[in-house]
Amino acid sequence: MAVQINPSILSADFARLADEAEAVRGADWLHVDVMDNHFVPNLTLGVPVVESLRKATDIPLDCHLMIEDPDRWAPQYVEAGAGSVTFHVEAAAAPVRLAREIRAKGARASMALRPATPIEPYEDLLPELDMILIMTVEPGFGGQAFLDVMLPKIRRTRKLIDRHGLQMWLQVDGGVSTATIERCAEAGADVFVAGSAVYGAADPAEAVRALRKQATA
Ligand code: DX5
Ligand code: ZN
Repeated sequence: MAVQINPSILSADFARLADEAEAVRGADWLHVDVMDNHFVPNLTLGVPVVESLRKATDIPLDCHLMIEDPDRWAPQYVEAGAGSVTFHVEAAAAPVRLAREIRAKGARASMALRPATPIEPYEDLLPELDMILIMTVEPGFGGQAFLDVMLPKIRRTRKLIDRHGLQMWLQVDGGVSTATIERCAEAGADVFVAGSAVYGAADPAEAVRALRKQATA
């Protein structure tokens, strides 16, 4: 299982996004947190910023939509150049239709679950998706403490993926650091989002390397 490290620009300097993308050279994807102040109590950026970022960097963009009405908006993020688009199942009206639309437009389709949302009701949707995101904090802010109580859900999700023989990725997001990444990897996650642990470090590229090393330890 190849490990991927996706730095979250939520903890970067928004006035210098192109430089901040360059600062994490060696990372697999750049994680872009889109918040609308409705689905979560915070506001970040939208389609025009993703469009500009796409032109300013070569690293693929992993857009995490923490917004209402992803059925309407997610396809626009594919058009803006996202290589992967994650919508929240709690917000999607028609998750299967949406996943198919994202894929048809040429991006990887991914579905996120808030900490209190169980995976089991969505078992039959897994083949429609390229990635599942298990939130390990309540979405909305960077720098929160990792929720250990999510480890069993990561484990159960990994079992479901394997039972169905799927090649899809299992991403974790929230409180991921060198102190917590090993537990996530051991539970079966293979794509790791890290905001403050990367951009809060003196050398972000080195922080990415340290996370990768720890995840494969
Ligand atoms: C939180 C966002 C995360 C955030 C993670 O709602 O989805 O991507 O940037 O930040 P850290 O890694 O600092 O917990
Ligand atoms: Zn995120």
